[in-house]
Amino acid sequence: MNKRFYITTAIDYVNGQPHLGHAYEKIVADVIARSRRSLGQEVFFLTGLDEHGQKVQQAAIAEGKTPQAYCDQLAADWKAFAKKLELTNDDFVRTTEPRHKQFVQAILSKLHAAGQFYRATYEGFYSTKEETFLTEKDRLPDGTFDPSYGEVIKLKEDNYYFKLRDHQQWLIDYLEANPSFVQPDYRRNEVLGFLKNSTLEDLCISRPVARLNWGIPLPFDEDFVTYVWFDALVNYISIPAAHGDPLLGRGSGVSVPGSGPRSAQPRTPDASSQLQLWPADIHVIGKDILKFHAVFWPIMLKVMDLPLPKQILVHGWWQKDGAKISKSTGNIVDPIAIIDEWGLDGFRFYVLRELDIGPDGNWTDAGFKSRYNAELANGLGNLVNRSLSMLKRYRNGVVPVKPEAGEVAKKVTSLAGQVQAKLELYQLQAALQDIWIIITAANQYVDQTKPFNLAKDPAQSKRLEEVLYNLGETCRVLAVLLRPFLPGTATKIYAQLGLTGIPDKFDAAAWGGLSAGHKIGEPAPLFPRRET
Ligand code: MSP
Repeated sequence: MNKRFYITTAIDYVNGQPHLGHAYEKIVADVIARSRRSLGQEVFFLTGLDEHGQKVQQAAIAEGKTPQAYCDQLAADWKAFAKKLELTNDDFVRTTEPRHKQFVQAILSKLHAAGQFYRATYEGFYSTKEETFLTEKDRLPDGTFDPSYGEVIKLKEDNYYFKLRDHQQWLIDYLEANPSFVQPDYRRNEVLGFLKNSTLEDLCISRPVARLNWGIPLPFDEDFVTYVWFDALVNYISIPAAHGDPLLGRGSGVSVPGSGPRSAQPRTPDASSQLQLWPADIHVIGKDILKFHAVFWPIMLKVMDLPLPKQILVHGWWQKDGAKISKSTGNIVDPIAIIDEWGLDGFRFYVLRELDIGPDGNWTDAGFKSRYNAELANGLGNLVNRSLSMLKRYRNGVVPVKPEAGEVAKKVTSLAGQVQAKLELYQLQAALQDIWIIITAANQYVDQTKPFNLAKDPAQSKRLEEVLYNLGETCRVLAVLLRPFLPGTATKIYAQLGLTGIPDKFDAAAWGGLSAGHKIGEPAPLFPRRET
């Protein structure tokens, strides 16, 4: 059994419809998953929903539904959304599933037995909106709390706490010894700065049922449910465990308890279908949830005796027109509406080309349309359409003999290598830029060689065939390179070239795949031009 490349996204709160930020993160993870497969690796890509906690309970109550009925209904929309984005996820976790809940409880029991938790009374401030306890340190200079915390109440209650403090120095040392653990670097520095300049508070891992009952019951005290973040983070290992990951089986002592006959979920798979997934290769997350992933999660794993994920890849946040995306102010980008109007690949292209993984981004409708028209319609679309149309017109759609490898072959081959190297480093935006260098150069090649003039002169027949071959083959290589980013477009280019199959292996980017005598299919515009 080989370990798979295991990539995860944050699991989204199911308290509304998906927005641009959710879509972006999932597309980034999808491109990485697809490019790894294209590089020849076996991949497991996990995404899903975070269904417990106060936010979801409140949203359900506001709609007059039980939390479970509310989640079931919305989960269907979110799963449909994953399909709409053409995500290639291998599983979709819902934290209300028995396979996840049982695993969380098994871990809680184990850590409780190992003395990792203690019960204590807390008296202080609490933000219901963020489901978090606040201290004097969180007060602003004027004595109030940041408005992002919503209403802050005074509270006195008993809870269970997880001993984080003991591990602070270990985590600092780990982050210093493993610079690639949190990327980009400035996010790693942020975590290190936080750890070096403050004392870690122990983490409250429970909520009293009297105040919140929509959660996983603590197996050792039925008056409490599990804090939503302790529950949610565990999805990254509960799902591998459900797929029989050997590291999460008996050896670690955190195996899923046998699922009873009434369980709706699959029992632990037999050896033939077991997957080796943990540790994750990358957790793709947004900057706001860095502390949970780079502080709480590593410590949780350490006390469970499990290896840490190889990398936490942190992306920035999208704004629209320079302001926060917000349902209440109406400043939103509806990914579904954009996809319905412009097509999925137009949407995938814009978010991946516009925003590198790391900084914050700004969506503007004008920017979207301008990239669509310039780079997709006039750039890629025009190149493929005119290359194939000329091959059709001047050679009846039959691929000429492959010429001696010249400048075009060299340039495309070298850039194709760069694209793959960048994808291995998760530099998606830079890889796209290299692909567009090929596109721009190929369009210039048409303008310079003027096949439409060559076609008028029988003495130039050989030269015309050379140009037509180079253009057709460039389109083919582009389909292979584009596939992780724009899956539908890549498949269309292949079909228009009359090629069967899907260009989903980078090996196929080697120059010279088109063979003489092959008949191409029908050219058709890939990105119809739109008025702006
Ligand atoms: N449920 C938690 C995550 C638990 S992971 C074990 C959560 N959910 S969320 O729905 O609020 O956010 C899900 C992801 O979407 C996060 O990674 C978050 O950073 C990302 N985004 C939410 N809004 C965003 C933007 N405006 N822009 C980019 N990504 C954003 O947090």
